[in-house]
Amino acid sequence: MQVPLLDLKAQYATIRQEIEGPVLELIASQKFILGKVVEDFEADAARYCAVPHALGVSSGTDALLLALMALDIRPGDEVITSSYSFFATAGCIHRVGARPIFVDIDPATYNLEPAGVRSAITARTRALIPVHLFGQCASMQHLLEISEARGIPIVEDAAQAIGAEYCGRRAGGMGRIGCFSFFPSKNLGAFGDAGMVTTNDPALADRMKILRAHGAQPKYYHRVVGGNFRLDALQALVLHIKLRHLDDWTSGRQRVAGRYGELFRRSGLVGCGHVRLPEAREGRHIFNQFILRVQRRDALKSHLTAQGIGTEIYYPVPLHLQECFRYLGYAEGAFPESEAAARETLAIPTYAELTVEQQEHVVDAIRKFYASGSPTP
Ligand SMILES: Cc1ncc(COP(=O)(O)O)c(C=O)c1O
Repeated sequence: MQVPLLDLKAQYATIRQEIEGPVLELIASQKFILGKVVEDFEADAARYCAVPHALGVSSGTDALLLALMALDIRPGDEVITSSYSFFATAGCIHRVGARPIFVDIDPATYNLEPAGVRSAITARTRALIPVHLFGQCASMQHLLEISEARGIPIVEDAAQAIGAEYCGRRAGGMGRIGCFSFFPSKNLGAFGDAGMVTTNDPALADRMKILRAHGAQPKYYHRVVGGNFRLDALQALVLHIKLRHLDDWTSGRQRVAGRYGELFRRSGLVGCGHVRLPEAREGRHIFNQFILRVQRRDALKSHLTAQGIGTEIYYPVPLHLQECFRYLGYAEGAFPESEAAARETLAIPTYAELTVEQQEHVVDAIRKFYASGSPTP
């Protein structure tokens, strides 16, 4: 039995008929850049995220870059973020000329540890970027308190967390700006690269709209320098149709997560410490990934690959140890929880279409690996 990490073809089969007609109509219209199709998607996406303003952009990476540009983050500034995230979170801080300041994670949730944030703040701190990793919100209450007390804006990296909630509030609506990715593997995935920024602040929304198209206002007149961060109409159309299914797909992922919990507990793998399950804390976890913490991770990954089971390591190198950030001067051991997570975590298949039989196969393959007692490398 094959169990891919993600099966987008299975998802597409369920919506193909809804999508093909409108896509062909859009092609016939030859109107590909921004316009009504993008605006219609933005209106519904804003409603979904419970914010007044949402702007479609070219990717999650560009959403972060645009957010930092809109907040006027520049050389000499410091931006605090997690040392355990996808590269783009820190890459964008560097790209605007600011200095990424890393903080370790809470090992139970993989999200930014608020106490570490407090002690990392200096007179040069200009923004905080918590990441809602794997689909679960960071400890926003503490971070919002810090943000308010110190007057430092929060940019939520909600790339993996559309529809996630913390104390009843949706990801992307708690900080000054929310940044989303619609990379195909996300709960809401485009047919290519796409992203979105959200905000409650109308002035910031206007500024981001101008920066999204090279800073032009009106067209061909530039008071500020922006970029080409526009969302394609084709992607907006696909995303708009898929948005109607998002809650069902997310419920499916939550069901899969619950079932994994039962299967792992029944397998005996959890009690003996071979496997630790993800911990859902406050709020709505959308399970963009289902992350195990395991013993002998790399050997287990090879074993599962041989059994036709897809897995992935998110992420093998924490941000503070990336070669390109050597100039920041962080040494190994600086952030032990991020480093442990990079050594021990493994993402296993998670998507709404995953069958009970496939999940049983995954858990059984993991059980057999530990039962065989293959030697510690
Ligand atoms: C946490 C996080 N931030 C930012 C991004 C960047 O998004 P994109 O790939 O759409 O540029 C991603 C995408 O994987 C992500 O997971």
